Amino acid sequence: MSQILRLQGRVALVTGGGSGIGRAAALAFSRDGANVVVAGRRETELQETVMMICERGGDALAVPTDVSDSAQVRHLIAATLAQYGRLDAAFNNAGVEGFAPVSDMTEAEFDRVIATNLKGVWLSVKYQLEAMTAAGRGGAIVNTSSWLAHGASIGSAAYSASKGGLDAMIRAIALETGAQNIRINNVNPGIIDTPMARRLGANEE
Ligand SMILES: NC(=O)c1ccc[n+]([C@@H]2O[C@H](COP(=O)([O-])OP(=O)(O)OC[C@H]3O[C@@H](n4cnc5c(N)ncnc54)[C@H](OP(=O)(O)O)[C@@H]3O)[C@@H](O)[C@H]2O)c1
Repeated sequence: MSQILRLQGRVALVTGGGSGIGRAAALAFSRDGANVVVAGRRETELQETVMMICERGGDALAVPTDVSDSAQVRHLIAATLAQYGRLDAAFNNAGVEGFAPVSDMTEAEFDRVIATNLKGVWLSVKYQLEAMTAAGRGGAIVNTSSWLAHGASIGSAAYSASKGGLDAMIRAIALETGAQNIRINNVNPGIIDTPMARRLGANEE
């Protein structure tokens, strides 16, 4: 008897899909039958994820994207619709670390963390909602926050602000999307063994 996959015919978009949590999520969406679009800045890593999905019999598309850039996010959604014709689920997981005591952190570094971790999710959600609302089929969006949204470690001010802001932002957006049958939630992981955690020595994230 052939297996019935619960996401067969659905389309899932994963930002930060070229590594770590995002790659694992992309593979999981595909295992459940979804066609998957992976986005991130580095094309080679995205293509590796696509290859892993295709080797397992799935279908995926890589769209190099910087989520802090509005035009690139709009292109990502357009490329998703052009390839698969719909968007059912999004995992806005792209994020950067950026840890330093406030006295040492530059203004440019603070802006970089907020631009990706907070504005990047705002832009992603904005254009994903536009596509989902226009289609009228509902949808589901999950964003990766962090335990550091509500916790702290020395040097986490910018990162904690970006993730705490993300939690506050999504609580507010959730009030707007219910009427369209679009669920939107954050996950707040603890330490997960990924390239980011390894860059940080697995003790600060
Ligand atoms: N690992 C942990 O312990 C932990 C705990 C709590 C929360 N998190 C969060 O989990 C998420 C995933 O991180 P990870 O641990 O899996 O580390 P990771 O492997 O470094 O993944 C981060 C991903 O985000 C992408 N990214 C970064 N800036 C981007 C941008 N401007 N535009 C598009 N993509 C961008 C990166 O790809 P490119 O560099 O190619 O753009 C990369 O694929 C992040 O939001 C992180 O804050 C991680």
